[in-house]
Amino acid sequence: MCADRDPDAAERTASLARERGRAATARAADVSRDADCRELAELASGLGELAVLCNIAGISPFASGIAQVSEELWDRVLAVNVKSVFLLSRACLAQLGAASDAVIVNMASVHAFASLPESAPYAASKGAVVALTRQMAVDLAPSGIRVVAVAPGAVDTPSSYTSALGLGADSRELSALKDPHHLGWLAAPDDVAEVVAWLVSPGARFVNGTALVADGGMLAQLPRS
Ligand SMILES: NC(=O)c1ccc[n+]([C@@H]2O[C@H](COP(=O)([O-])OP(=O)(O)OC[C@H]3O[C@@H](n4cnc5c(N)ncnc54)[C@H](O)[C@@H]3O)[C@@H](O)[C@H]2O)c1
Repeated sequence: MCADRDPDAAERTASLARERGRAATARAADVSRDADCRELAELASGLGELAVLCNIAGISPFASGIAQVSEELWDRVLAVNVKSVFLLSRACLAQLGAASDAVIVNMASVHAFASLPESAPYAASKGAVVALTRQMAVDLAPSGIRVVAVAPGAVDTPSSYTSALGLGADSRELSALKDPHHLGWLAAPDDVAEVVAWLVSPGARFVNGTALVADGGMLAQLPRS
């Protein structure tokens, strides 16, 4: 089951799954709304066992330091990036608890651990995703549900470029994202998907409550003076 606020995006993801031989259903939903999350859970229950939930939806508005971000934008970022994790996970709890070896994967970011200028609600939201992941892991362990997060660095998606350009980056700075000191390339979406695939696999059965950083070494590097 692939859900996205944008029906075309949901369908594109479902098509990719079908190309890989999996049955997939696409659904338009706003995961910051409880009613939509409950409807998704209900629909999923008609499709078979629900053993994996990935909370991926997120927005990353630029130019949103605390001096200029509006209260409305603050609330929206926190609703889409964090409240959605609570709402959709809660809606799916009964089904996940009934499955064997259930896993919830939450999408955090390196912004949970280090900051760029003017990105206050995004940084706050991703820090909260890491804390919520830890909390959910503690609370859901008795139900046999693992909860983990992935914290990617720069990934080659349209929203990366929109965010960087909005922060005033020029094309030279965008190519600097490919700094050889962190492996020299932006991650492809598949690089993050591979990490998620491992986290939900039996091989990761002892990984719980933690955020796995997948950033090509970005956080490992001290700035050069
Ligand atoms: N791209 C990066 O460099 C990067 C790095 C670290 C973390 N992330 C995180 O990875 C996730 C995916 O990012 P992306 O780069 O693929 O962004 P993207 O904008 O390409 O995809 C995000 C998707 O979420 C959907 N969405 C937004 N609000 C929604 C809502 N309320 N309900 C349902 N769907 C909604 C959008 O329609 C879009 O299809 C986000 O949580 C983002 O914060 C991205």
